[in-house]
Amino acid sequence: MFRKVASSSSGVSKKARWTYSKSCRSYPTREVRYPSASLRVWWRGRTFVSMSASKRRRYCSRSSGWLTTKWVNMSNSSSVRYPPLPSVIFHKHRHDAPFRYPSRYPRPPSGTHPFRFRPRGVRTCGGRGGVSFFSLHANGYPLPEAAMTTIGIIGTGSMGSMLARTFIEYGACRAEDIIASSRSGGPLSALAGETGIRAAADNREAAREADILFLCVKPLQVRDIMEECAPVCTPAQLVVPVASDVPLACLSAWTPARVARAIPTITSRCGRGITLLAFGDRVTGADKAALTALFGAISRPYVTTEETLCLLTDLTSCGPAFIAAVADEWAAAASRRGGIDRRAAEALVRETLIATALVLDHHEMDCRDLIEDVATPAGITREGVDVLGEQMPRVWDDILAATGARHRSLRREVERRHPP
Ligand SMILES: NC(=O)c1ccc[n+]([C@@H]2O[C@H](COP(=O)([O-])OP(=O)(O)OC[C@H]3O[C@@H](n4cnc5c(N)ncnc54)[C@H](OP(=O)(O)O)[C@@H]3O)[C@@H](O)[C@H]2O)c1
Repeated sequence: MFRKVASSSSGVSKKARWTYSKSCRSYPTREVRYPSASLRVWWRGRTFVSMSASKRRRYCSRSSGWLTTKWVNMSNSSSVRYPPLPSVIFHKHRHDAPFRYPSRYPRPPSGTHPFRFRPRGVRTCGGRGGVSFFSLHANGYPLPEAAMTTIGIIGTGSMGSMLARTFIEYGACRAEDIIASSRSGGPLSALAGETGIRAAADNREAAREADILFLCVKPLQVRDIMEECAPVCTPAQLVVPVASDVPLACLSAWTPARVARAIPTITSRCGRGITLLAFGDRVTGADKAALTALFGAISRPYVTTEETLCLLTDLTSCGPAFIAAVADEWAAAASRRGGIDRRAAEALVRETLIATALVLDHHEMDCRDLIEDVATPAGITREGVDVLGEQMPRVWDDILAATGARHRSLRREVERRHPP
């Protein structure tokens, strides 16, 4: 059923560039079998080709680094996990057993910076034997020179700890390149113990050592921390609050460092989602590249202007909560009709949600196309889609009006308490 078309077990040079084929069948390939899964993947002997987007191909072909990815769920069923491709993967997923790098594949040379790839999904191609293959795609950004960049994180709550964990987990930097501080020592020590990052004695120590300093605190706390760190900050540093509604003009006035704003998303925990970036006037091209690369490892960076940042924040950063809230209400409505309890309904909705996102992603479909595929004229789904069409515009207008009002009041509060 699976034919070995060509084999190339010879060593791969350090400079070898690897590109993964979305559909490798047209190329000389090597079959790779996985001991603990039924997935079979065809690899070209040395070079994997045909990335799906030219941009990715460009970035990929520029990279002489190594590809990495995590253990991934490549099945239609979310309960099944497959191991990664041994020839490119050396990061293991923390939920899985330690992965042994096969000795016949060369290890990544020390000091190389991995070029991050992510699975795009698995497709069953039909045909005899139901051939499965999957494609990988790069986030599209070469990773920064990790050894040269010390990342400071002030505030190790939900966002700060997420950034520390994912930067390490996705190979954006090494644990020892992160130094963090927080108000209470307990969570910081726990994070340092778990990840291997350095725990600073205070905010100033983190600020002094950092090349890029993330302020992962609430908007109204940003000014106090910048003031506290001002004596140790220099124009050579880049300070990046992840708080919403703290204007770049204020930030620039509060520190001699260069400033940018980043709005990450909780979905970076699985390496997906959008990180919004807006840059201050003093930011250099190298700063932009470094931030884009860092966040490119854990998400897709989207550079925008400060004016649109609030609205886009609602889509990308508040978005996961909105979508979860919709799913929650949907499950509640189903349970109110009787016949299924809320937990069971939520499990069904959740799987539908995940599968829908995967279909949209793997098949690069628009939402409209998906609706048309399911909601055939005069069908049952069409009835529901029509109700949504009537009611949803008002609901979403109300949501965005409410969040917009909150953004404006928070910004006014920041400017009132801490004028530039
Ligand atoms: N959560 C999200 O999905 C998300 C997404 C995008 C952006 N953001 C932004 O990220 C920022 C942080 O949010 P979060 O959810 O991570 O909040 P959080 O869980 O409350 O974390 C805030 C952290 O800041 C620390 N802190 C407060 N004052 C400090 C000080 N003076 N010095 C050092 N550390 C201090 C807190 O320490 P203690 O625990 O000791 O108080 C806490 O660890 C917010 O501005 C938010 O708008 C959040």
